[in-house]
Amino acid sequence: MANGDPMKGREAFAKFECYACHEVKGETFQAPKDKKNVGPELSAMGPMHKAEYFAESIMNPSAVIEKGKGYEGPDGLSKMPLFNESMTVQEAIDLVAYLRSLKPVTGAPAGHRGH
Ligand code: HEC
Repeated sequence: MANGDPMKGREAFAKFECYACHEVKGETFQAPKDKKNVGPELSAMGPMHKAEYFAESIMNPSAVIEKGKGYEGPDGLSKMPLFNESMTVQEAIDLVAYLRSLKPVTGAPAGHRGH
């Protein structure tokens, strides 16, 4: 997995409105028009998974789904949409870098911490 830019990843997170379904504590994304909050909170995910896991979560959301939390639809697939048609590979790489930068709250929001 290539190294991405967490700042650009944060922009992509806003652009694709990932925040409509995923809370990131400490972030101030624009309030989504249609707040769903159906996905897991991602605030402190960074240290919990390898880059490859985040990449798979984005490119193939149904690969790993925690059962019993309302994450899957009636068809058993993830409620998370596929972005494969609209997202560039670079955006995916940067998103992974952004997600990897999310750590338990230490003050400043992840994307602003620099690195
Ligand atoms: C319509 C709601 C929705 C949107 C929009 C959405 N997700 Fe998700 N996401 C989910 C759900 C539901 C899950 C849990 C089931 C699964 O793993 O697919 C999930 C899971 C994830 C996971 C795995 C978390 C874990 O605990 O394993 C990551 C990472 C993730 N999403 C990132 C993103 C990113 C990045 C975007 C924007 C490009 C995005 N999501 C947009 C609903 C959404």
